[in-house]
Amino acid sequence: MKIMVVGGGGREHAIIKKLKESPECEKIWALPGNGGIAFDAECVGISATDIDGIVEFAKNNPVDFAVVAPDDPLVLGCADRLRELGIPCFGPNANAAIIEGSKVFSKNMMKQFGIPTAKYEVFDNIQEALDYLKTAPIPTVIKADGLALGKGVIIAETREDAQAAVRSMMEDKVFGESGSRVVIEEFLTGPEVSVLSFTDGKTVVPMVSSMDHKRALDGDKGLNTGGMGTVAPNPYYTEDVAKRCMDEIFIPTMNAMNSLGRTFKGCLYFGLMITENGPKVIEYNCRFGDPETQVVLPLLESDLLEIMKAVEDERLSDVEVKFADKSACCVVLASEGYPKKYEKGFEITIGKLAENADYYIAGAKLENGKLLTNGGRVLNVVASANTLKAAIDDAYKASENITFANAYRRSDIGRRALAALQDE
Ligand code: AMP
Ligand code: GLY
Repeated sequence: MKIMVVGGGGREHAIIKKLKESPECEKIWALPGNGGIAFDAECVGISATDIDGIVEFAKNNPVDFAVVAPDDPLVLGCADRLRELGIPCFGPNANAAIIEGSKVFSKNMMKQFGIPTAKYEVFDNIQEALDYLKTAPIPTVIKADGLALGKGVIIAETREDAQAAVRSMMEDKVFGESGSRVVIEEFLTGPEVSVLSFTDGKTVVPMVSSMDHKRALDGDKGLNTGGMGTVAPNPYYTEDVAKRCMDEIFIPTMNAMNSLGRTFKGCLYFGLMITENGPKVIEYNCRFGDPETQVVLPLLESDLLEIMKAVEDERLSDVEVKFADKSACCVVLASEGYPKKYEKGFEITIGKLAENADYYIAGAKLENGKLLTNGGRVLNVVASANTLKAAIDDAYKASENITFANAYRRSDIGRRALAALQDE
């Protein structure tokens, strides 16, 4: 099978490396891919948001199957357009991708169908939002309705900060039209768990759980980033919690989308908080998480291409989705200064890695045969092992064999998960 993968980050590199393990995989194009993905796929210089360009490429090449990995093309209807061409595709149509594309949609859906989530109010009028904040419980959480490159959520510790957040979204339009409507919601506390799932609208199959580390600095300090590392499985996702999530969140969400005429086929990502009152949905994503995918897929023992095809053909219940009974850890190597200002263009040297380790390139370009840093998050180093402790140690060990000037990594990825395991 000849496969087209839309996207060009570490998540896509992990998807591509996994697809290549399938005996059926003959060739992969990555649109646009990146300098590191170029070692594993043919990179085509078409951006992931250039839907016309992607469709044109699919018309002119013998594409048997497409995987649309990032949120923006899904929300823009990339999967719909490919399916209209008769190309089977992994990823939801736009009318289902709205579960991530509009927070107002997903909150209203959860309320309508009784799916546990933070209490909230929706505002499209700035004055009403500011008035509401005069008496709202503090801290509070302000969310832009639409996609905002993962930056549309502000946790306000004071009333002034909350009002400033509303002004920046609704008046200064820092997130463009995404912020013309905002959700103001109850601040919840508890450990967070990411659960990616496969669903074809009939069955929902959760993958191994994971834990992201979003803040830039050790001890979960510093600015929010796209994710500085992950571990899987997440120790807070106990069997009890998993059962409650299945009954109270996963199946009800799939059924809710079906009854709204928005059947979701693809990877549905549940961002969960395990509160005192049970698991609640913090956010849905319509796609694989980044960098969650980088720890989840290395643990997948089944054939990813088989599963993706089964999702598209709505026969997910017929295929096996098996994960190794192991742990994995992903350490992000970023450019010093990320997520603010950073320099790029430094050569990346990749030494020999142990058998249980691998790497995925997120932000690099190939120039005259040299791999150069080309982004904030440059690459992901991943190791899997029988215990979480060994996976963490091995990922950090492997990360020392990959070097570039100005590299920055957190030194405590997985520490909180390890502590939680020891508390059990
Ligand atoms: P993201 O949506 O990925 O930008 O991340 C938002 C982050 O904000 C989540 O991972 C949580 O840590 C936090 N968050 C979002 N909603 C809430 C909430 N209602 N209560 C507490 N924290 C929240
Ligand atoms: N790691 C969080 C996300 O992919 O949105």
